[in-house]
Order: sequence, then structure tokens, then C-alpha cells
Amino acid sequence: MKTVWVEGATGKAGKRVAAALAAVGFPVRAASRHPGSPTAGITPVRFDWADESTWTDSVAGADALFLKGLDTLDDAASLITRLIAVAPQAGHVVLMSALGVDKAPATAPRARVEHAVRESGRNWTILRPNWLMQNFDEDDAVYARAIRDDGELYAGSGDHRASFVDTRDVADAAVAVLTTGSHHGRGYDLTGPRALTFAEVAGTLAGASGRPISHVDADLETHRAHFARSGRPDAWVEHMMDLFVHVRADVFAPVTDDVQWLTGHAPRSLDDYAREVFAPAPDDDARVLTGLPQIFSPITS
Ligand SMILES: NC(=O)c1ccc[n+]([C@@H]2O[C@H](COP(=O)([O-])OP(=O)(O)OC[C@H]3O[C@@H](n4cnc5c(N)ncnc54)[C@H](OP(=O)(O)O)[C@@H]3O)[C@@H](O)[C@H]2O)c1
Repeated sequence: MKTVWVEGATGKAGKRVAAALAAVGFPVRAASRHPGSPTAGITPVRFDWADESTWTDSVAGADALFLKGLDTLDDAASLITRLIAVAPQAGHVVLMSALGVDKAPATAPRARVEHAVRESGRNWTILRPNWLMQNFDEDDAVYARAIRDDGELYAGSGDHRASFVDTRDVADAAVAVLTTGSHHGRGYDLTGPRALTFAEVAGTLAGASGRPISHVDADLETHRAHFARSGRPDAWVEHMMDLFVHVRADVFAPVTDDVQWLTGHAPRSLDDYAREVFAPAPDDDARVLTGLPQIFSPITS
């Protein structure tokens, strides 16, 4: 079995890619700045894009790399080129990019990252997921905190739509391309089964949780202030604002069958996700039994 080095292994996508690979018997080196304890098949390794002295040991012994790169650095592309160079034994590089990047100008930072992978001299595959559903419950900076604390889904999106994808489907797609040894030189657009407005998303989350959750259709400047309150760097705030310009241009509206094609199963729907993650547990015992990460406490009154 080939060993796969997984970047961002504590993040929404990376942790699921690592777990899914381990579940099918592929050893994983799980890379992040905060490696935890080993679990079956998963060896956490320290890795920091900002500290090149961590790179060589981190990728040692990896036959394949699952990369996403950083969004907030101008030199993300050259960092990826240098990282691949210190892993000469890695024959396959899989990049998690983002929907629409292949249509962006060649000078756009994420387009330059894709270019760096295509020109790496290794076998490569590029996965381009749409917005991840797990932003709604796991990413406080993007949506989760405002949904949880204020019942607000902040999105300056108007009535434009996005075909949100469940991160578990991204992980399943990554496993398909990393374990079969095919899909080289290919790019795949990973979407959910339907394009939804943010108001429809809010309605679905509200219906599943039994709590009021509304779409706040802010103008872009108000939206910028919302993201700035996250405390993330200015470059991240600008990246998020750029994404909403693209939402308004319907870049994230297409629905593809690439999840079905790669994984053999239909993409999970937002209804499925909301029922699993947002439904209040009937009681604490049930929560322990199901193991589902409900984000709201049970309603007791
Ligand atoms: N979220 C979406 O909706 C979405 C959709 C499509 C594409 N994408 C792409 O996916 C990427 C984000 O993935 P995600 O949502 O899974 O990420 P995430 O949940 O935000 O997690 C970020 C990961 O990056 C790691 N990290 C942060 N800074 C690092 C550094 N300096 N060195 C090494 N590791 C670092 C973090 O680990 P530590 O903090 O432990 O180091 C963590 O594992 C972005 O490139 C984005 O363009 C995201």
C-alpha cells in the first residue's frame, strides 16, 4: 500500500481524507502545525508552510501527496513547487483546488498553484470542490459561529446559487484518485446534487435544527465587516470577499456528476447533511450513541 502525505490534516477536508485513506488500509502521514496522537494507520507529522525546516522529515517516505496549499500567501505556488521538490519519491500529487479556478486568469493565485502542480513533473490530479457544507458547522470564521450564536447565515449572495458539496464526498473522491493509480493528468469539479440559494440553505438548516436561522443578504461592505470580525488576517478577508464576487457571477452554480463518476455513489445532499449535523439530539445518551456532531444542545423546554 502506498503511503499518502495529507496536508491540512486537522482541517475540514484533510482530516476526512486521512481517515478515509486509513479506513481502506493506506498508511497516512497527517501533516499540520498541530499534530495530535497517532491512530490506526495515521501518523501525525509536524509541518508548517512558514518553516521549511519542517518539510523534509514531514514528507519522508510518502509515495503520494494530497495538497491544498495556503490561500493567503502570494507565493503559495512557489512554496508548492519547493515542497514537491523535497519529496522526490512521491510519484502522484493530488491538489485540492476550488471550483472555477481553471477558468480564472492565469495570474490568479490559485490558478498559479494549479499550474505549479501541473508543471511539477509528477503524475497529478486536481480536485476542484465547490463550497463545503461543513463551513456551516465547523468553520467559525466563515459561518458556523454566526449560525450557532445568532441564527444568521451571513452571505452577500443575493439570489445566486451554489452547489455546496459535503466534505465527505471530497474525501471519497480523493481516496478514489489516490488509491487507483489512474486519473493522472485530470481535473474534476466536485459539487453537491443541487444548486441552492443561501436563503434555501438557511431554511434547510433551520428546518433540521428547529431553530430560527435566516439568510442575511448583506451588501459586500457589510459582509466584509462580518468576516473581519473573525480575527483572521486581512488577506483571508479579501479572499472571502473575492469568493462572493464569484458567487454573484454564478461561478459556483454548476452541478456536475464528477462525485458520482469518481466514487460510484451520488453526492450527499444538503438535506442529508443538515439532518445529520443540525438535528437536535433527543437527549445526551442518544448523542453519545449516534456519535453525530450536533452543533446545538438538545431543546429541553
Ligand atoms: N472551505 C471551503 O468551502 C473550500 C471549498 C473549496 C476549496 N477549498 C480550499 O480548501 C482549502 C481549505 O481547506 P479546508 O477547508 O479543509 O481547511 P480548514 O478546515 O480551514 O483547515 C486548514 C488546515 O490548514 C492547516 N494550516 C493552516 N496554516 C498552516 C500552515 N502555515 N502550515 C501548515 N498547515 C497549515 C491547518 O492545520 P493547523 O492549524 O493544525 O496547522 C488545518 O489543517 C483552501 O485552500 C480552499 O481554497 C475550501
